[in-house]
Amino acid sequence: MTVKFNQQSLENYLDSARKYPYLPFSLHIFDSLPSTNQKVWELIEQGEKPGCVVIATQQTAGRGQWGRQWISPTGGLYLSVAIAPKLEVINNYQLTLASAWGIASQLRNYGVNLGIKWPNDLVLDSRKLGGILTETKVSQGKIHQAVIGVGVNWKNPVPETGINLHSWQNHQNFHPISGLEMLTATVLLGIESGLNCLHNEGISMLLSGYLNLLTNMGEKVYVNNLLGTVIGVSPQGNLRLQVIDEIHNQLITPEISVEPGTISLGYCKNSV
Ligand code: BTN
Repeated sequence: MTVKFNQQSLENYLDSARKYPYLPFSLHIFDSLPSTNQKVWELIEQGEKPGCVVIATQQTAGRGQWGRQWISPTGGLYLSVAIAPKLEVINNYQLTLASAWGIASQLRNYGVNLGIKWPNDLVLDSRKLGGILTETKVSQGKIHQAVIGVGVNWKNPVPETGINLHSWQNHQNFHPISGLEMLTATVLLGIESGLNCLHNEGISMLLSGYLNLLTNMGEKVYVNNLLGTVIGVSPQGNLRLQVIDEIHNQLITPEISVEPGTISLGYCKNSV
């Protein structure tokens, strides 16, 4: 399948939605790339500024979280954005939390009932619709540059645990997202609004929005043979668990905190 991306249409969506842009988007659109994240880093090396956006209609070496591959055939959305966040390195996960919340909220405005699976998965009907990979360059304990990469299943084939938005819409009585360009604009506006919220309102406000969309709240998980219940996410992006002593059926205090990448949660049925 060949996909032609209509840049003018994307620009029209962005212009009509943005009166006071937080990020000055400059668009770079390609038919095929190894990875849009990689391309943004190359463009930064060549002098591109924060707000540089790279979109590809397919990727041949898409990068996923925890060193995994992100299979990226045509029909999917693959985009990356450069930012210069000036965050402490310990807070680097806040960029992913902000983007996940922003993208999910923007799509929910159109009636697409997205939730978030900790820490970075966009879920629809308990299946993975997309994911976020944030890469950073750090010096002296501060993040100076970051690339936020987002993959969303639009019309591409997906595995058993995945879902694509085009097929989902075909099973509804409404088709709020009209095409790849509108989806791209919605995702970019979502990233922008998430970063704007983090910057202007702070992590507490952002976290309360993120937790409202978290599908894992109340889920039971085993960590080091201890049974815990998900009670939230910390400002650094760690999963917060309340642990239960199963023999005495008592809560064990203090709560435990699990870093992203240490455990993997299921696609649970909680709807938000
Ligand atoms: C995940 O593992 O859930 C995150 C996947 C992120 C994939 C996107 S696709 C666009 C951007 N370029 C990449 O190489 N990866 C990200």
